[in-house]
Amino acid sequence: MTSPTQESPFLRACRREPVPYTPVWFMRQAGRSLPEYRAARDGMTMMAACTRADVITEITLQPLRRFAVDAAILFSDIVVPLRAVGVDIDIQPGVGPVTAQPFRSEADLARLRDLDPGDVPYVTEAVTSLVRELGATPLIGFAGGPFTLASYLIEGGPSKNHDLTKALMYGDPGLWHALLGRLADITAAFLRVQVSAGVSAVQLFDSWAGVVGPDDYRAAVLPHSKRIFEALAGSGVPRIHFGVGTGELLRQLGEAGADVIGVDWRVGLDEAARRVDAGKALQGNLDPAVLLAPWPVIEQRVKQVLVQGRVAEGHVFNLGHGVLPQTDPDMLARVTDLVHQESVRHPA
Ligand code: CP3
Repeated sequence: MTSPTQESPFLRACRREPVPYTPVWFMRQAGRSLPEYRAARDGMTMMAACTRADVITEITLQPLRRFAVDAAILFSDIVVPLRAVGVDIDIQPGVGPVTAQPFRSEADLARLRDLDPGDVPYVTEAVTSLVRELGATPLIGFAGGPFTLASYLIEGGPSKNHDLTKALMYGDPGLWHALLGRLADITAAFLRVQVSAGVSAVQLFDSWAGVVGPDDYRAAVLPHSKRIFEALAGSGVPRIHFGVGTGELLRQLGEAGADVIGVDWRVGLDEAARRVDAGKALQGNLDPAVLLAPWPVIEQRVKQVLVQGRVAEGHVFNLGHGVLPQTDPDMLARVTDLVHQESVRHPA
């Protein structure tokens, strides 16, 4: 536990240990807000970019060259492991993940075979080279959560209300649990590949789980997320659990077993700290749209998040969801520096 990476502010905050300053990274810090990202992606589909180790490595490192962020996040997408086991799913520009054959019946379970490390050699290769390049800076691996992955498979594409997904959840619990069980196995295997290759933390993005009420979440989703976190319990890497609109689910997200709970902007971090059980750090939660406002507004809001974050046992500064494509990257640089300056702890 004494390597420079292990002693980084990001991993210390995840472990709820004292930090010299509040660590910060941004969901989607690599992406369309950066001109160099758009250049690297020129003429290349998202799936092609996600399956080439050199491209994954380059895009992951891009934000680190601009911002003094405390962690890198692997460039990939939540549908990569599904595609790797042969599911016919693609990412359409401006739309998101789309599948031609939505999940409908028990027969479709056969299309979700287990993931083997040999299915994702580009991930192992990219993580290995990134860990070498990043030195003391931690690399975060990730995967999609069971509800969110199920939604893309069942709806066939992005959905506002996730009606078909909920119809299966309410209407055929047997098939629902069989599907989420398969997805949990694939996800746990995908995260284990990343941990074996050297990532220092993992985040489970169950982005759309917030559309389910607490009792249904506990019965229909939590057992599967719990199994994913349990599969990584012995790995020693902090596990982060994030969803959008999960203010009413924060306690349940915590019960699934992660070490850090990601919070969106709808609930203050001080209130979020009261909602989760003891023994969890929090991550968040500036509204990404605040970054489109003038600097004095951004500055005031960043300071507010830091004040509220002091109530948590550990705080990793982040946005409440991903960086919006129209964000000025200079604002991300200024926010990073402001978080560090404002939160400096002077040794007693
Ligand atoms: O956070 C990071 O910096 C890592 C990169 C990352 C991407 N996708 C890259 C990406 C992560 C963590 C994801 C996860 C992801 N993908 C989620 C969960 C997180 C969230 O945002 O809620 C979800 C729901 C997806 C599915 C997905 N993939 C959507 C909805 C889209 C947007 C489609 C569009 O064009 O508007 C994608 C594509 C995608 N994934 C892009 C990036 C940078 C944009 C594609 C492009 O640049 O062409």
